[in-house]
Amino acid sequence: MTAPLDEQELILRADNLVKHFPITKGAIRKKTVGMVSAVNGISIGVAHGETLGLVGESGCGKSTAGRSILKLIEPTSGSLTFEGRDITGLSRHEMVPLRRELQMIFQDPFSSLNPRHTVGSIISAPYQVQKINPPGGVKKAVQETMERVGLNPEHYNRYPNEFSGGQRQRIGIARAVTLQPKVVVCDEPVSALDVSIQAQVINLLQDLQDEFGIAYIFVAHDLSVVRQMSHRVAVMYLGSIVEMTDRDTLYAAPLHPYTHALMSAVPVPDPQVEATRERIVLQGDLPSPINLPSGCVFNTRCFRAQDRCRVEVPELLEVTPGHKVACFFPITEGLGHDLIKGPDSGFVEQPTREVQPPSEVIADMESSGSARPLGADYARDGDYEERDF
Ligand SMILES: Nc1ncnc2c1ncn2[C@@H]1O[C@H](COP(=O)(O)OP(=O)(O)O)[C@@H](O)[C@H]1O
Ligand code: SF4
Ligand SMILES: [Mg+2]
Repeated sequence: MTAPLDEQELILRADNLVKHFPITKGAIRKKTVGMVSAVNGISIGVAHGETLGLVGESGCGKSTAGRSILKLIEPTSGSLTFEGRDITGLSRHEMVPLRRELQMIFQDPFSSLNPRHTVGSIISAPYQVQKINPPGGVKKAVQETMERVGLNPEHYNRYPNEFSGGQRQRIGIARAVTLQPKVVVCDEPVSALDVSIQAQVINLLQDLQDEFGIAYIFVAHDLSVVRQMSHRVAVMYLGSIVEMTDRDTLYAAPLHPYTHALMSAVPVPDPQVEATRERIVLQGDLPSPINLPSGCVFNTRCFRAQDRCRVEVPELLEVTPGHKVACFFPITEGLGHDLIKGPDSGFVEQPTREVQPPSEVIADMESSGSARPLGADYARDGDYEERDF
């Protein structure tokens, strides 16, 4: 796998990115009564032609992070750098030329496309926004892109509702890649699709990356999809990055208790291995981002939590080259060597807390119940997600 990245190599990066949503009360004189702490100071980035997987359960802030890093929503604080240029303070208007290079593929292939626009007009929108007239005209360029992503170019004048979910996602991909951007945030682009279609869409994204050198930030709640796509993986929990390293290291030697729990919730195809392997089962729901736990954000569900975890916040430290973890008591038992730096575990075995059956954990990861106090159905101004491009 890839060597640890030199920070200089990152084409797009976020440093200490924070996004909080105020909760307001009152129709006329709006009063802020609380705050949804969706993203709490994350530092991530992606290099040319690389895929950074961003994984965590539903409601942990992945979409908010993805949108903030592209400035589709204004970060509360932190800085954003694209190709060495500080873009943090750019206005929406000043961002327009950069939209050519920074694109997004949305999760829901149904709500993200305007049903009143033809496929041709949806995919050609970036040409209108950027005022680009390619040789041979926009229609020809769009039809070439349609063909490249596996759509029939003769369907140029059709409407999104005439397509299946997989084809609609190809329309979203075509729109995102038609101007050959440098970075694309893919927000759970296959989560809404059948498994057989997922593989096709993943292959398409990988081919496009090979062909155009696109850097992806690939958001998913599914560790197996992330494993297939990513060069490096960042594990997110309740608005924070808790572990980040290259893919092979993460899957071979995860250090954070949450990463272990996520991995043990993924079913193994071999029934014998599946029956015998140890499962780590998380207790309870993802806490509310309106009221974050004190100390380590994971302490309310962590099977290794000790007193220190409830009062002190563990820093995300690089504990071996290229491997960062935010935990006072990382799981080093299977490593075969000590960490070269970082927290001295000093872990004391404590009685395991009450557990849930594994099926419920998997359901938990998907849940949209108490984990999402304001839910995924927050207003999007009644508009479609393609509007910014
Ligand atoms: N526009 C918004 N207004 C208020 N809360 C929001 C908004 N967008 C997201 N949230 C909240 O922020 C948290 C993280 O949401 P999100 O980024 O969508 O998580 P994920 O993509 O990991 O499922 C959730 O609790 C969600 O309800
Ligand atoms: S710091 Fe403590 S609570 Fe947090 S993940 Fe590590 S052991 Fe668990
Ligand atoms: Mg999301």
